Amino acid sequence: MVGTATFLKDAFLRVFGPTATLRVWRAPGRVNLIGEHTDYNLGFVLPMALELACYTAAAPRPDRRLRVFSENYGEAREWPVEDLSAAAPTGHWSDYPLGVARELVRAGFAVRPANLLVWSTVPPGSGLSSSAALEVSVALALLEGRPIEPLELVKLCRRAENEFVGAPCGIMDQYVAVFGRKGAAIRIDCRSLEHEAVQLPAGVAILAVNSMVKHQLGSSAYPERVAQCREAAARLGVPSLRDATLERLEQARAALPELVFRRARHVVTENARVEEFTAACAAGDLAAMGRLLAASHQSLRDDYEVSCEELDFLVETALAIPGVLGARMTGGGFGGCTVNLMEAGAEERFRSNIAEAYRRRFGREAQIYPCVPAPGAGEL
Ligand code: GLA
Repeated sequence: MVGTATFLKDAFLRVFGPTATLRVWRAPGRVNLIGEHTDYNLGFVLPMALELACYTAAAPRPDRRLRVFSENYGEAREWPVEDLSAAAPTGHWSDYPLGVARELVRAGFAVRPANLLVWSTVPPGSGLSSSAALEVSVALALLEGRPIEPLELVKLCRRAENEFVGAPCGIMDQYVAVFGRKGAAIRIDCRSLEHEAVQLPAGVAILAVNSMVKHQLGSSAYPERVAQCREAAARLGVPSLRDATLERLEQARAALPELVFRRARHVVTENARVEEFTAACAAGDLAAMGRLLAASHQSLRDDYEVSCEELDFLVETALAIPGVLGARMTGGGFGGCTVNLMEAGAEERFRSNIAEAYRRRFGREAQIYPCVPAPGAGEL
């Protein structure tokens, strides 16, 4: 943390010159343990916040402008603060901070002239929620410590992504960036928007493996899945797939297009898996936890069709490594990371085996991140 604060201070000084009033805000990335593509169906998810995070260092400016510099891209954008409420997206990374600024103004929070330096350690396109981390850290920086209900902050950042950036994501990523807890995953009910802390049993380790690929298909497939789920719910006569049961779905099978049936089956069974996984955590049933992760991956691969060759390979390879309890893709899919649950002590062998196998098969270096539940967003 001291290292991070010093790094950001030095970077800010280099880019914007000296300031007496620098404040730094942090919002974490996340790894989703289980409950994939269930959030926009108002179901259950079980993510945990990570040490990997986005940091926004901010100080007031003497003129009427908001300027944002990305330390990762080495590039800046700026806007007159008077124009923020009418801002339009351009397809650039700055859409995220700009969208957040616009939503703040629309929600009645004046955005004051400021210099922002943004720096993220969440690898982009990795399925570890770099976007939500960016949105939440920028929102906090622009709020400058003014109070906001945490849930309002979550919703505001999601609106920035849905309505400004144009990605129809669910609420999980922004939610866990705000409400994440040190030492625990959180099980979110995406309908009631309540959550509970879920402690992982002792004696396990979690590692994310980054395939380092992001297939283009993902950007069109996500909204397509959202629409297919909406269609399934409408055909089943339920408000959302959260309300569907496997029984009801099986009864309706003949009347549903095959694809819609499979999409819905993933969501219904995945919601059940979150509940079972949470119970297995409480019971310390490591074998059951592992089985549920593997079953989640199969369902995402076969019924929901959001996996890809690289992710399937990483999961299959992981499951054959001694000490590994379970593995699956995590996040939206079509690339990014897998999440791997193993017995503590198995990490080193896992790291070398998986990296070597991936290199041999795809000629790429997989990146590996140890995942320890970290706190939600706040001032550094
Ligand atoms: C992305 C979205 C989330 C969620 C996941 C899939 O990360 O941002 O809202 O839908 O995909 O579970």
